[in-house]
Amino acid sequence: MARPLLQVALDNFSLSEALESTLLLAPELDVIEAGTLLCLATGADSIKALRTLYPNNTIVADLKIVDAGGELAGMACDKGADWVTVMCSAANATKVNAMKAATERGGEMQVELFGNWTLEEAAEWRKLGLKQVIYHQSRDALNAGGSWGESNLNMVKNLIDLGFEVSVTGGLTVENISLFKGLPVKCFIAGRSLRNAKDPAAEARKWKMEIAKYWQE
Ligand code: 5RP
Repeated sequence: MARPLLQVALDNFSLSEALESTLLLAPELDVIEAGTLLCLATGADSIKALRTLYPNNTIVADLKIVDAGGELAGMACDKGADWVTVMCSAANATKVNAMKAATERGGEMQVELFGNWTLEEAAEWRKLGLKQVIYHQSRDALNAGGSWGESNLNMVKNLIDLGFEVSVTGGLTVENISLFKGLPVKCFIAGRSLRNAKDPAAEARKWKMEIAKYWQE
């Protein structure tokens, strides 16, 4: 089973702040995400900056697209994104158009699973050719007292059984990794717990050691 990748979410309000994080973290990372907050605050050129500075990392544009899937996914990939996110609540036509635009440019589209969605809908998306999903506990839900546990794990297993490559995110800390042991998780995505750590590089190494403990290649 492939070892899960480590992804940082750059949810900063300025590119310079985001780059302060990547300067420390990049050598430890597989995937670098231009977070929704960064993209909204600074525009899509932050994707281009990350592509230029980190040619060997996978770059994600977390645009959380809900409409104009082809145009927005195409724009993100033209700026250098390898993967681009679309909300699960978007129309299937938006998802398919985003997937096509990304694929034509050598990229991939990821469906962000937030709020209301069902496994029946997810099975439908598989039939449409969608490959990657992000199982996401929202920041707002976690702030309201949510946590990671068995029910989340079961949903992740169900998605894997449907044939998806599944990444997980939302307030994750290094302590949450063991919950997923034995599952082919695509990426662990962490924002605040990596960026705000006292020593971000040391924290990322801790994540990698914890991942290596449960997923031997
Ligand atoms: C918010 C996001 C975040 O990028 C993702 O949840 C990771 O951030 P954190 O680890 O800080 O929760 O997509 O919508």
